[in-house]
Amino acid sequence: MKTVLTGIKPTGKVHLGNYSGAIKPALNLARDNELEPIYFIADYHALTSVRDPGEMRELSYGIAATWLALGLDPSKSIFYRQSDVPEIFELSWILSCFSSKGLMNRAHAYKAAVDRNSEAGREPDEGVNIGLFTYPVLMASDILLFKSDLVPVGKDQIQHVEIARHLAEGFNKQYGETFSLPDYVVEEATAIIPGLDGRKMSKSYQNTIPLFEESTKLRKLLNRINTDSSLPNEPKNPDESVVFALYQEFACEKDIARMRERFESGIGWGEAKSELYHVMNSFLEEPRRKYNAYMSHTDELELVLEKGAEKARDKARPLLNEVKRKLGIRM
Ligand code: TYM
Repeated sequence: MKTVLTGIKPTGKVHLGNYSGAIKPALNLARDNELEPIYFIADYHALTSVRDPGEMRELSYGIAATWLALGLDPSKSIFYRQSDVPEIFELSWILSCFSSKGLMNRAHAYKAAVDRNSEAGREPDEGVNIGLFTYPVLMASDILLFKSDLVPVGKDQIQHVEIARHLAEGFNKQYGETFSLPDYVVEEATAIIPGLDGRKMSKSYQNTIPLFEESTKLRKLLNRINTDSSLPNEPKNPDESVVFALYQEFACEKDIARMRERFESGIGWGEAKSELYHVMNSFLEEPRRKYNAYMSHTDELELVLEKGAEKARDKARPLLNEVKRKLGIRM
């Protein structure tokens, strides 16, 4: 059976980019009986930046509640918190001994931090911790430990999946077939979901729309989406519009086609945003209610995650032992 795996880090509230880029495709893949879904909360990845314990806890529960509210069935998947599975960190150390420093120097997240520092006239590595620097190794460990075949992600994570594949190939070459070679799954339409200002929706740009924002706040946020200065009745290009991009994520095929025509014949921005709000709100109403219910019963979330961690550890141990045997570390 093939394995599909993805993770989200608790560095902010789950937003529409996370939903469309990773959660929605992952939930679709989870419906395929030929695939084993393995989804998790990447809390140790978040530790590179989140330092407030209350925030870490709340945001981690938020991710758990999101998956469950959107219909992930924990009895038909492996659903856990990364920090509950120590085997991941053991493999991470092993992989770090096979990862060149040059490879880490080229990783996007680290390079972006260095670029930000140089623009601000600071030392290149100021504020960069080793966790951020070796982030791709931990991510490779997440992926390789479960022999993942498919990794549904947004475009920003492609490089990380490629690094995981590269490390797997290197290890397999030296020690014989051990790890599966993972492929990323990136859908063209949702590879980069734009945020309020038109740039990639990202917690670090503060341009996100939280998936389960309460409905009046959601409406206000949608009204803040940047639009061009075209007037009502002036044709608008749907393929250059954040409003249309988000509309496509929640409407059915027929409504999307109709909205495309309305853009081309000149819908007003106010009306387009109002249509977006209605389609989103009616889709999200029920999951939002479930999400809020889970968030007020975090003991239930704990139970789900504990069981998930047991399953994850059972699945992970044989491969970790095989790796250690091959390295001469375990007889
Ligand atoms: P994170 O938490 O930043 O984002 C979670 C997922 O959401 C996707 N995403 C987007 N997709 C489209 N448009 C956007 N604007 C957008 N913003 C975010 C991300 O691409 C990602 O798929 N390193 C990962 C977490 C991780 C992981 C893993 C993922 C840790 N280990 C193993 C896959 C496999 C991250 O920071 O995601």
